[in-house]
Amino acid sequence: MSKGSFISASIGRKFLMSLTGLFLIIFLTVHMSINLLLIFDDTGDLYNIAAHFMATNPLIKVMEPVLAIGFLIHIVWSFVITLQNMRARPIGYNKNKQSVNSTWASRNMLILGMLLFVFMGLHLSHFWFRMKIAGDVPHTLVMQGGSLVEMENAYELVAGFFKASILYSILYIVGGALLGLHVSHGFWSAFQTIGLNNQIWRKRLYFLAVVIGWIFTIGYGIIPLYFMIKF
Ligand code: HEM
Repeated sequence: MSKGSFISASIGRKFLMSLTGLFLIIFLTVHMSINLLLIFDDTGDLYNIAAHFMATNPLIKVMEPVLAIGFLIHIVWSFVITLQNMRARPIGYNKNKQSVNSTWASRNMLILGMLLFVFMGLHLSHFWFRMKIAGDVPHTLVMQGGSLVEMENAYELVAGFFKASILYSILYIVGGALLGLHVSHGFWSAFQTIGLNNQIWRKRLYFLAVVIGWIFTIGYGIIPLYFMIKF
């Protein structure tokens, strides 16, 4: 099969979505783990040290543009595939028994993705823009390895944000739930596309996808919930 016809084949097109999707899941797992430090140390030191490490480690810095490209490919490609599918099947799938044959998340991946895109735009403006572009986040001194190190007070930025309005917290709980739903189908579907789709693995991956979806929903949602309840 030539390179061109591989890309144009249905599986070929989905392959890129699957690879970038799995890569994004790795980022989202690391991102969630670091953000969970917000609720385990009210002094904020743990979170600030982790955020400072992520912002200054050369390896992580190299990964930033890779992450941006991963998101871009995943998003642009989702539209390309949907358009091509619509052209190939203008009448649409047989709508009979859709709810029996597929999950709600699987039928709404594009809309879930689009809502996540809106959430991401808001999210980047809340934190990433202020830390990386505006640079107006106050600094703090944190004891690290026996000496005081000056770093951005990322804890104050995020904690202050959630404490400021219940609406912000609700937005992030919804964002986490959207992500959980999107991943609960995406993770399983990615492995199907890559080829791990025999009967035994199909069931295991389906189960794992639902578990990962719930981990993201709870893991991301519990952070704003903590600030909503405690402060
Ligand atoms: C409680 C939930 C969340 C918190 C507290 C949080 C916090 C943050 C913070 C503080 C930054 C800026 C880091 C920096 O620039 O150094 C950031 C960046 C980012 N967040 Fe989140 N985030 C949350 C949920 C999410 C979700 C659900 C997604 C994706 C759907 C996401 C995707 C990103 C991306 C792509 C970046 C930019 C890359 C980076 O700088 O690491 N975040 N987040």
